[in-house]
Amino acid sequence: MLFNVAIDGPAGSGKTSVTFQLAKELGLQYLDTGATYRAATLGCIENNIKSTDEDGCRQMAQQVDVEFNPSDGKQITRFKQRDVSARIRDDDVTARVSEYSAVPVIRHTLVAYQQKISEKGGFIAEGRDIGTVVFKDSPCKIYLSASPEVRAERRAHEIQSKGLHTDKPFQQLKEEILQSITERDFSDSTRTLAPLAIDAHATIFDTSSLTVDEVVAQLKAHIEQ
Ligand code: C5P
Repeated sequence: MLFNVAIDGPAGSGKTSVTFQLAKELGLQYLDTGATYRAATLGCIENNIKSTDEDGCRQMAQQVDVEFNPSDGKQITRFKQRDVSARIRDDDVTARVSEYSAVPVIRHTLVAYQQKISEKGGFIAEGRDIGTVVFKDSPCKIYLSASPEVRAERRAHEIQSKGLHTDKPFQQLKEEILQSITERDFSDSTRTLAPLAIDAHATIFDTSSLTVDEVVAQLKAHIEQ
């Protein structure tokens, strides 16, 4: 496939699981852009670079690169040539990634890099700025939506299936998540950098009453049209 596929949607819309499965079924290369922000964040943490230090942040972002394992297509994320794919999932990185990914020079550097590696097409990626910035010229943009209630319910199931918050009644956990999803929707859609927005050319799929397999089947049919 010569074009790139962009998938966006709010938290809990199922975009990560759908994108993974779709990549496999369509033979597209999954690009995890979040991992590049995590790697730049790790570099800043390890080198004591503050998010206000523009030059330092640029230098850190420029040392991030990714490659794809030819046997299984898995992304290997590197900082200064070192494989940091596992390290970037640690709590210290997760806690600071939002701060560093809001730094304009980090965003500009990483978006330019993501666009360069995907310029030949055949990539699929999900996230806030994929349809609007990274793959902005893509002829295939998809926006997954689902009601806040359904998204909260999915997250609550996911959390309890990992053995977390199992002491809490399901309904209470769901209500708490619903509250935080509503707040996050608001702040995501009003933030200045990479706000949650539906691209004018995106096709919207409501996943509220669908399983991941059903969404993937619908998207596959849509993309192959
Ligand atoms: O996808 P993941 O949770 O690993 O992304 C980590 C963080 O990187 C997000 O919470 C967000 O702050 C940032 N990010 C971003 N733009 C992207 C992907 C991720 O700002 N395209």
